[in-house]
Amino acid sequence: GGDFAQKIDYVFKVVLVGDSAVGKSQLLARFARNEFSLESKATIGVEFQTKTLIIDHKTVKAQIWDTAGQERYRAVTSAYYRGAVGAMLVYDMTKRQSFDHMSRWLEELRAHADKNIIIMLIGNKCDLGTLRAVPTEDAQEFAERENLYFMETSALQATNVESAFMTVLSELY
Ligand code: GTP
Ligand code: MG
Repeated sequence: GGDFAQKIDYVFKVVLVGDSAVGKSQLLARFARNEFSLESKATIGVEFQTKTLIIDHKTVKAQIWDTAGQERYRAVTSAYYRGAVGAMLVYDMTKRQSFDHMSRWLEELRAHADKNIIIMLIGNKCDLGTLRAVPTEDAQEFAERENLYFMETSALQATNVESAFMTVLSELY
């Protein structure tokens, strides 16, 4: 490589899962590029972005995969989960249904991903606290029962986004 070649010590694949419109793509945009858009369009197929981080003097490349929450736009499930070592299971805290669907997403994740996968449950849109439809305790209870990490985030306000991804990535490393 040239002068700017970077030695990568680890590459970690992390997948985003959850219903449409919960904010998966915006969480990724916030984490990877520190960007946010209120006019985000539904994802079609699969997209991914990478972010290279230094953790404990090691160069870690996070490869974060994002797919459609809408069934008709989803990519082939097995390919999406293949090789994933981390997952962000995302619901919208103002939409109860998106939380009720978490067990289904988790089931799909567990059926296709590595059995040692590290999973973070994310209640996104905490900036809309006045519209909250999912009490923190409900999510905490679900996370404890299923052995997941849990955080409430806002992609809009950049609350806990870095911290959620970093928790998973540090756990992998
Ligand atoms: P699919 O690609 O269809 O699966 O949806 P998605 O989960 O990727 O949702 P997306 O990131 O496109 O966000 C859906 C809508 O919610 C957009 O209008 C976003 O701007 C908005 N949104 C995402 N995150 C937040 C947040 O933290 N707060 C608020 N208020 N709006 C958000
Ligand atoms: Mg999307």
